[in-house]
Amino acid sequence: MDRIVVTGNGPLSGQIPIAGAKNACLTLMPATLLSDEPLTLTNAPRLSDIRTMSTLLQSLGAEVSALNDGKVLALSSHGLSNHTADYDIVRKMRASILVLGPMLARDGHAVVSLPGGCAIGARPVDLHLRALEAMGATLDLRDGYVHAEARGGLKGAVVDFPLVSVGATENALMAATLAKGMTVLNNAAREPEIVDLARCLRKMGAQIEGEGTSEITIQGVDRLHGATHPVVTDRIELGTYMLAPAIAGGEVELLGGTLSLVAAFAEKLEAAGVSVTETPTGLTVTRRGDRVRAVDVVTEPFPGFPTDLQAQMMALLCTAEGTSVLEETIFENRFMHAPELMRMGARIDVHGGHATVTGVDRLRGAPVMATDLRASVSLILAGLAAEGETIVSRVYHLDRGYERVEEKLGNVGALIRREREDG
Ligand code: EPZ
Repeated sequence: MDRIVVTGNGPLSGQIPIAGAKNACLTLMPATLLSDEPLTLTNAPRLSDIRTMSTLLQSLGAEVSALNDGKVLALSSHGLSNHTADYDIVRKMRASILVLGPMLARDGHAVVSLPGGCAIGARPVDLHLRALEAMGATLDLRDGYVHAEARGGLKGAVVDFPLVSVGATENALMAATLAKGMTVLNNAAREPEIVDLARCLRKMGAQIEGEGTSEITIQGVDRLHGATHPVVTDRIELGTYMLAPAIAGGEVELLGGTLSLVAAFAEKLEAAGVSVTETPTGLTVTRRGDRVRAVDVVTEPFPGFPTDLQAQMMALLCTAEGTSVLEETIFENRFMHAPELMRMGARIDVHGGHATVTGVDRLRGAPVMATDLRASVSLILAGLAAEGETIVSRVYHLDRGYERVEEKLGNVGALIRREREDG
């Protein structure tokens, strides 16, 4: 296993290129199952999760080639030889459940392992299953697998989501493109990744309206054709690296970033004393004083403050002037970075879904452990301005969602290196 060592080293300066969105790519890739013609994705991120999704699709008989050093993915599924998504792949990455809707819509049957929970919560998939049942699928849960049938194909339906779910919206949206008749998704997720998926499906011949709002209408068609589509910029990687100059000082331009992807997050940064300015090539971020001010944060579905930036924002607020309260409303266990930040001298009280952070002048570097993807990067961010060395172990969590983090931060002046974890 690798670890990353980061040493507080003063202000940063330069540019960081932002990659294509992991969470868009993970739903765009299964869309290849909806058509027997080739789907080409450009601006794809080079991440272990993407490789896991490629392995899963290949296990079903699809072809996936990573071209141009992995930035282009050429997919095709002209004949699926297997309709079972095995537990040993699904357990590694919950987004595997996103092959269920497309496979069912295309071939009328699918067997997909239930993903099981993960570090940040139980993460059930009941809303995915209810949406597909509403479209006429029969689902049988046994031996940890969903056995789904839709002989004669899916039919359009009105699906009312009791709570906003990104994945369930994506599964239902993909399934509805080939269902007979019209489907309406109410209380649908509004994330940019959903808008990106809808745009790609429309290029493939799907008839979709309303993506980005909470009501999406899909008129089913008989078949979809191939397409070429650029993966949208990763708003979570963008927000993560916007925090680097906010924490360490200096000025950094995030190439490819746009304010519309991170509006709620940027608003919070401004309130904390960090300037975010649009440039012709991205977003430039600078901290206005020596310390940021405390702000309160509540995570919400898009367009609210993203849960995937909560851990990273906490790292900033650990050295803010004053006391901040962060409320995590999406997942039940998403404060595992708090005890690790406390090892660095942070003052944090966690009670249920609330974390109260009392800012300190400076954190001190320490050996810490990554527990999940976003927690791991928040520890690296904290290390950028901490006194001394911070050693983050188990960075395989990090590599799931961030391309070459040590290179991107090193290029703007951070003292950071990756090394093998001995033993
Ligand atoms: C997606 O997960 C993202 N993953 C997550 O990013 C992100 O945190 C999450 O959306 C929220 O924005 C991908 O896109 C691959 P949800 P997803 O369904 O779809 C509950 C990262 O760090 N729920 O919107 O699984 C669920 O337990 C990852 O990149 C049900 O109860 O999230 C949660 O409390 C982490 N039943 C809430 O809804 C269901 O059937 C939101 O989950 C589905 C979800």
